[in-house]
Amino acid sequence: MSKNQNADTGAPKPSWTVRHSDADELPKVARVFGQALLITDDIDSMLERMRPLHDAVGYERLLVAVDDREGEEEVIGTANHFPFEMTMPGGRFPVAGVTGVGVWPTHRRQGVLSSLMRRQLADIHADGVRYAALWASEGSIYERFGYGMAFTEVETSVTRPHGALRADAPRDPDLRVVLREPERVRVDLERVHEAVAAQQVGQFRRTEPWWDRLLRDTPAQRGDKAPLAAAVVGGPDGPLGYALYRVRNKWETSGSEGEVHVQEITATTPAAWTALFEHLFSRDLVSKVVFDFLPADCPLHHLLANRDRAVATHQSALWVRLVDLAGALSERPYAAPFEGVLAVTDRYAPWNAGRWRIKADTGGARVELTDEEPHLSLDAAHLGAVHLGRTSLTGFLRAGLITEHTPGTVARLDTALHRFDAPFCGVVF
Ligand SMILES: CC(C)(COP(=O)(O)OP(=O)(O)OC[C@H]1O[C@@H](n2cnc3c(N)ncnc32)[C@H](O)[C@@H]1OP(=O)(O)O)[C@@H](O)C(=O)NCCC(=O)NCCS
Repeated sequence: MSKNQNADTGAPKPSWTVRHSDADELPKVARVFGQALLITDDIDSMLERMRPLHDAVGYERLLVAVDDREGEEEVIGTANHFPFEMTMPGGRFPVAGVTGVGVWPTHRRQGVLSSLMRRQLADIHADGVRYAALWASEGSIYERFGYGMAFTEVETSVTRPHGALRADAPRDPDLRVVLREPERVRVDLERVHEAVAAQQVGQFRRTEPWWDRLLRDTPAQRGDKAPLAAAVVGGPDGPLGYALYRVRNKWETSGSEGEVHVQEITATTPAAWTALFEHLFSRDLVSKVVFDFLPADCPLHHLLANRDRAVATHQSALWVRLVDLAGALSERPYAAPFEGVLAVTDRYAPWNAGRWRIKADTGGARVELTDEEPHLSLDAAHLGAVHLGRTSLTGFLRAGLITEHTPGTVARLDTALHRFDAPFCGVVF
């Protein structure tokens, strides 16, 4: 048997190993990630963006796969996660924000990602973090690793004649909108965002490096649009909402066809939402307003006089993974009592696999391993998909992807897990 074969099975040994990385290796990590994700920026520009986010939290979560066949180590795979504090159904909790996943093209489909994912999940679990979340480049990759697509966000485009709001939209004459360079009103933006993010499931606490990234305004960021602008709405007690946007100048033979592209909009009162929408829809020379990301239950959809003329495109947002299934299910409140036994499979986090007896109520749940017969069989990825209360198990049942042993279990569990507000993240990390 050759040294390149596994002594027990005779199967070829992988030519690479997974290990932790460090700050010095970031250029090699950027090289792999850039090539894998087809990023057109040069490595220096990528590093300029990546370094502050990594420096702020350290490099101990950065994983690499290295191939040393040529006698010298070559980084051929990467995965990272940021230690977010994210609003979840039970409150603000640590969540691993998985990112930076890429495999060098010549090493794809050999199990590199699988090894990175296995190691990463073990690390997250060892750190006592109960959840992981990510934005997926392709929806077919992450379910096998136990991630479930938890909610969508809505790109919405409204052309000028349809931007009128309902006559009875809430308006407050004491509110005033100012338009400023974002850095000048950064304190206001941070204050409003923190108030919203603390309540809105899916949002992570935005630290200074993330604000820096969001407000970055280089020519590459702008493309063919104008510098980033911030419209802040406020009243006597301070700021109540803001919109970060860029305008695009566009002339046709028929006249101006300018556009407003809203990167982020949020507010804490109905009248503040109205004031921001009226500001955006009343810009001169503009024929279209595009909102990159809105929550599925954004007030815009109710405030437009002609709401069916807004073009809304749902895009998959966060994929959620219960890294510690029992811990995650126990610290979540439930909309209705539920009692039952779930048989759970989990290929990449075996500590979650087994039969779990759940006794849940509005305050949380008791979750224990049991030998009892299950009422429902499903995978950890299904529980990740439904944890934020927006996706239902009924859909998986109808698709034949989960097995109900006791009729009515799925309906009861869906009722217990349901939340009325739409989750929202808004920042691709
Ligand atoms: C996606 C990517 C990371 C996969 O890496 P890889 O090392 O080839 O993956 P593995 O060999 O470990 O494959 C793991 C499993 O995922 C499947 N898979 C891998 N890439 C896939 C893809 N793009 N679409 C669907 N399935 C995929 C494999 O078939 C395999 O399935 P199995 O578990 O049923 O055998 C790699 O192809 C890549 O870097 N792609 C471009 C960048 C990217 O999309 N990164 C993800 C950013 S969110």
